Amino acid sequence: MHALSDEVRSAGKRIALVPTMGALHAGHLSLIDHARAQADFLVVSIFVNPLQFDRDADLDAYPRTWEADSALCSEHGVDAIYAPTVPSMYPQGFATKVTVAGLGQGLCGAHRPGHFDGVTTVVAKLFGAAKPHIAVFGQKDYQQLKIITRMTADLDMDLEVIGRPTLREADGLAMSSRNVHLSPEERAQALCLRRALDKARELAQGGERDVETIKTAAAQVVEGAPLARMEYLEVVDADNLAPLARLDGPARMAMAVWLGTTRLIDNDALN
Ligand code: PAJ
Repeated sequence: MHALSDEVRSAGKRIALVPTMGALHAGHLSLIDHARAQADFLVVSIFVNPLQFDRDADLDAYPRTWEADSALCSEHGVDAIYAPTVPSMYPQGFATKVTVAGLGQGLCGAHRPGHFDGVTTVVAKLFGAAKPHIAVFGQKDYQQLKIITRMTADLDMDLEVIGRPTLREADGLAMSSRNVHLSPEERAQALCLRRALDKARELAQGGERDVETIKTAAAQVVEGAPLARMEYLEVVDADNLAPLARLDGPARMAMAVWLGTTRLIDNDALN
């Protein structure tokens, strides 16, 4: 990867990177299509990163669909797939961890110890290997996007981080590689995430400013789905992710909900 990126860069070409863990769906492809239009050479990385999984069962069950992924990449004009092995990424003696303080503490960070350190560490390595001019991420993982943007600025990584909107199924469920684990009943009730976000936005746009009122109404939507178990539901400052008591500036609601053994996340702007 190093040799290839050096060669492409020395030809004066612009490199775009879309980091993924594979099991590509239309959400990933929207990032790939956006990146394709912005660069001369498009790299997609596919690496199921053990460092960012806090549960072995989740890592083991994570879908791996190499054949379909590589076919989709060629259909969408990807120039190179970077798919390193685990031992080549984390050989004996590997000892470095990249941590972004503050932004990683709340929301998913509070419930998945070590998760964001695993993400920032691997993304720093992917940036180092692919040497992109731009890297494209989804707002589906809003906290991840904010953390990576911060890391890139703080560590003088000379590239632009681009965030793109969440792609959804026709009924509103955010596309996710983990949706394949849902039973038909869980799949139906997974709509409670989108509905809770809609409820919150409707209140905010109707003039409600009190966050507790908004959170209570949104939580009731989730409670209406008997198979759903809420892990967290927060309203945060859209920029620094600090929890809010009142809606004064740009705010985002973010949530994690379990359906059986599958953990789903979603978020959206409230105003
Ligand atoms: P993964 O979950 O495979 O997601 C790869 C990229 O696709 C992320 O930027 C994610 O936000 C984006 N994405 C996922 N679902 C989306 C949707 N429905 N609409 C738009 N974009 C979507 O996120 C990771 O992998 C990993 O943490 C990674 C950054 C690759 C580091 O290992």
